[in-house]
Amino acid sequence: MTRLVELDATGPRKLSPEDLDDEKGDVAVCQCGLSDSFPFCDGSHRRTADEDADETYVYENGERRVVDRVVTDDESE
Ligand code: FES
Repeated sequence: MTRLVELDATGPRKLSPEDLDDEKGDVAVCQCGLSDSFPFCDGSHRRTADEDADETYVYENGERRVVDRVVTDDESE
């Protein structure tokens, strides 16, 4: 499974004590790229639960679609 993610941030988000989840006492950082609260996990990763390991996905406007795999210069050598 591969997921294409488009980000527009140009700098880091520094974590502060206020970023701790009051109930769980931790900070969950998004690793799927789909969170509307990026860099924090908002549960959007649940949408990836049924992804096929051999496919590449684009998530856009609330929809998911399968696309041809993108090959970067590093991989084509
Ligand atoms: S890991 Fe991305 S929303 Fe949870």
